[in-house]
Amino acid sequence: DDMGQDERAFQARIDEGIKIEAKDWMPDAYRKTLIRQISQHAHSEIVGQLPEGNWVTRAPTLKRKSILLAKIQDEAGHGLYLYSAAETLGVSRDELLAALHSGKAKYSSIFNYPTLSWADMGAIGWLVDGSAIINQIPLCRCSYGPYARAMIRVCKEESFHARQGYDIMMSLCKGTPEQKAMAQDALNRWWWPSLMMFGPSDAASVNSAQSAQWRIKLFSNDELRQRMVDQTVPQIEYLGLTVPDPDLKFNAETGHYEFGEIDWSEFNNVLKGNGPCNRERLQTRVKAYEDGEWFRDALVAYADKQAEKQAA
Ligand code: 3HC
Repeated sequence: DDMGQDERAFQARIDEGIKIEAKDWMPDAYRKTLIRQISQHAHSEIVGQLPEGNWVTRAPTLKRKSILLAKIQDEAGHGLYLYSAAETLGVSRDELLAALHSGKAKYSSIFNYPTLSWADMGAIGWLVDGSAIINQIPLCRCSYGPYARAMIRVCKEESFHARQGYDIMMSLCKGTPEQKAMAQDALNRWWWPSLMMFGPSDAASVNSAQSAQWRIKLFSNDELRQRMVDQTVPQIEYLGLTVPDPDLKFNAETGHYEFGEIDWSEFNNVLKGNGPCNRERLQTRVKAYEDGEWFRDALVAYADKQAEKQAA
């Protein structure tokens, strides 16, 4: 077979559930796909702060504002954590950021949608972070040590994000008819894009087979998407809201909800950069990076001066 001796030994370790560490030998393709996934995961966390940032100054109470600020700060930390995990694979932070700013690297499609009302802060925490948790829990057991360990810390904070989002939705659904209508409108706009977060269908997924063999992906895109639907529909019913999917129905035999076709043309359009907010999100990130140039230069100059002092 086409596997060399090193690859065979490597795969045997993966199959035994042994964690691969940064200093271990690994196939170039394993390194490459991890840099791709971890860096895009990090980009998602950083860009993911923008939709919520829009509502910090518009939060209805000081309590909601401080919770939202804490969540956004967590996301920044998740991003820096994941960039550090990617750097263990021999790639530099500057390279990763250049790939994002040039439009070469992806970040999660979900962050290219606008946040039109306060209810969106509820829908995002509940549905987007809820989906992220479903996707990230298995990653705590993935084969690459630094990534798996980073996920353990991220998942703990993520559950607070999801709970505070659902709390916002509960307040709105117990509020005035206008507030409940706001919650339904947010659900209508965030439901399908949240299902798309899990990636293309298994049949259309180019990376899944290899990622599964290397135990980077422990469950398929469709399996995790199904898990999200099964978990969320009862929560929607509890809120007294309606799932914006006329084809949704519970299958008593399988115990799962069957749901309608996802609009993959919308998904592919967003990935191509034609989503509602793609350009704005990237421009905002590029401007933030350029505006921070003077600060990075000062840090480097200071570090160089310290180094000179040490050397003298
Ligand atoms: N948005 C953008 N691109 C997506 C995507 C999405 N929702 N879903 C898939 N893609 C891309 C993939 O990156 C891949 O493109 P690439 O080869 O150029 O990277 C292509 O579509 C085909 O998809 P595959 O299923 O073959 O790719 P993967 O095996 O990488 O699976 C994934 C996609 C499930 C997103 C996987 O990369 C993954 O689990 N990533 C880590 C978790 C992650 O990034 N979660 C979303 C971030 S949301 C978040 O964490 C913030 C939260 O805290 C609010």
